Amino acid sequence: MEKKFKRTTVTAALPYANGPVHIGHMAGVYVPADIYARYLRLKKQEVIFIGGSDEHGVPITIRARKEGVTPQDVVDRYHSLIKKSFEDFGISFDIYSRTTSDIHHKFAADFFRKLYEEGKLIEKTTQQYYDEEAKQFLADRYITGECPHCHNQGAYGDQCEKCGRDLSPTELINPKSTISGSAPVLKDTKNWYLPLNQYQDWLKEWILEGHKEWRSNVYGQCKSWLSMDLQPRAMTRDLDWGIPVPVEGAEGKVLYVWFDAPIGYISNTKELCDKEPEKWGSWEKWWQDEDTRLVHFIGKDNIVFHCIIFPIMMKAHGKYIMPDNVPSNEFLNLENDKISTSRNWAVWLNEYLEEFPGKQDVLRYVLTANAPETKDNNFTWKDYQERNNNELVAVYGNFVNRALQLTKKYWNGVVPACGEMTDYDKQTLQEFADVKAKVEELLDGFKFRDAQKEAMNLARIGNKYIADCEPWKVWKTDPKRVETILNISLQLTANLAIAFEPFLPFSSAKLRKMLNMESFEWEQLGRTDLLAAGHQLAEPELLFEKIEDSVIEAQVQKLLDTKKANEQAQWKPAAIKDTVSFEDFQKLDIRVGLVKACQPVPKSKKLLQFTIDDGTGTDRTICSGIAAFYEKPEELVGRRILFVANFATRKMMGIDSQGMILSAVDSDESLSVVTTSKDVKPGSQVS
Ligand code: MF3
Ligand code: ZN
Repeated sequence: MEKKFKRTTVTAALPYANGPVHIGHMAGVYVPADIYARYLRLKKQEVIFIGGSDEHGVPITIRARKEGVTPQDVVDRYHSLIKKSFEDFGISFDIYSRTTSDIHHKFAADFFRKLYEEGKLIEKTTQQYYDEEAKQFLADRYITGECPHCHNQGAYGDQCEKCGRDLSPTELINPKSTISGSAPVLKDTKNWYLPLNQYQDWLKEWILEGHKEWRSNVYGQCKSWLSMDLQPRAMTRDLDWGIPVPVEGAEGKVLYVWFDAPIGYISNTKELCDKEPEKWGSWEKWWQDEDTRLVHFIGKDNIVFHCIIFPIMMKAHGKYIMPDNVPSNEFLNLENDKISTSRNWAVWLNEYLEEFPGKQDVLRYVLTANAPETKDNNFTWKDYQERNNNELVAVYGNFVNRALQLTKKYWNGVVPACGEMTDYDKQTLQEFADVKAKVEELLDGFKFRDAQKEAMNLARIGNKYIADCEPWKVWKTDPKRVETILNISLQLTANLAIAFEPFLPFSSAKLRKMLNMESFEWEQLGRTDLLAAGHQLAEPELLFEKIEDSVIEAQVQKLLDTKKANEQAQWKPAAIKDTVSFEDFQKLDIRVGLVKACQPVPKSKKLLQFTIDDGTGTDRTICSGIAAFYEKPEELVGRRILFVANFATRKMMGIDSQGMILSAVDSDESLSVVTTSKDVKPGSQVS
């Protein structure tokens, strides 16, 4: 880092309060942001960590309309849910507020008014679709129609989800309002635009020349935006949910959600500073002082807003600092499938916290280990279990437990003195001392995945050290030597508590308690005098527990159920086959048969063998490939089924099958034998 900064403002994207947050949000934004904030705090640097809910925008109004409640109801519900999940997960925001707060409304309106009054915005009249029945202008999402490219009938005014193309509402064929169902009409409307084009040269200089160190995905996206001509972009919308545009002649209009939301970072800072001025000072210090470093943590779909639009807003305003870095992640997949809210394909944070109490750090660890830092990454429950059992339990937990248990056993939990060190001792301590610089370099470069790996390496070194030294054997011959081994092991344990604090704060707190340490800081990392000889330790407990197969299987089953539910929801009956004549139909001799016996065919997974009374007095044998769908085939005995009586005899697994039993194919491809609704005589014909 070239420039020396005095303090850091860390922001994490404000999640939309129209649903809970899931592991994709956590891995992409909140866990890395939290690691970074905790790291800086542990280094005793001045840092503020800002979060909050994004409570405006069209999707929230759509959700409210669907549920028949107000947008405020929707955001109230999800704001509290999200806030609580973050708290319980240890995301250490200094403030988590919301964009419906009074402070924010006033702050964002003032920001807009200043730009307006200084002539930084362009007033433009355009034609927008208007719903004459509902008497309102329609946001792009409120208009559906036929896609001009792929002719999908249900395309939205901003995008066709079938072919993925971006659209504008006027491109739609036969547009319809989703509010009243009527055809919308075009009507003049005035809005205020931010002339992005006027800032293009400055952006090129600032980002493309000045920030070559940004992550390549972020830099690349900026470069591609800046290689096209930027266009003025509307900062106001015709909508009734949001912050009213504070100028005359703007009735019925609100600020564009992407105008007000990033200002939420600033207004939330102000809210905190106003509440505790002694602790935080003025909000301006965090946003307008050149000695402050601003870092935005976001997901990749937010890059243009944080690297282009928000910086232009701040530049136009004039007083603000620019972000020093915008570490943005790619996406996390779940079990090799794109996470999707509408398909419920996600692990929701609130559900995880309920189903895995006390296991925040396990998920934090796994999400960081699979962080989608440079490319999309994948979360699987199997990997979750393996990383817990093979890394957290077997490496970190095991080492700590050995060190503490041996100390308890041999010294009643008192730290023994360090005697003379062997070369191996010194070498081990040196490896520990080296890790500090490595982890720091990685964290300073926002490489959280590798940084955590290095921290885990410390535990591996410790584990190997104890395994190599075998204190339980040495004890019998040389108890003095064991004192040294344990002293070193305990120092390493204290180091681990520090190194892991940003990543696994719950475990570090637990470990700190067991070690009876009051506090620690990053600067102590690598030192070997963290615990004095004679220091009394507390009772050791297990840091991590093995996760059993059954727990993982239950989660996998939950996802399979979701998949099935989605398939069922999407299921449509097959297209009707070509027309046939009555004569054609009559060629089939379908009859009723009474099942006298039904059993699996030996050595076949698929086949059931039916013995049928077909009314002729001679039993008929028919094989049918439905074994997978009848766990207890004997339950079919006594039922009247339908079969094709003039079907050519076929040999199946050595059995002559005389006919075919009719089954219905369900939406999940499972089969159900067709039966009659009355007890008709076996042999009766079906017509
Ligand atoms: N709510 C947006 C999203 O989830 C992020 C807003 S970030 C902010 O994509 F800067 F606008 F606050
Ligand atoms: Zn299309």
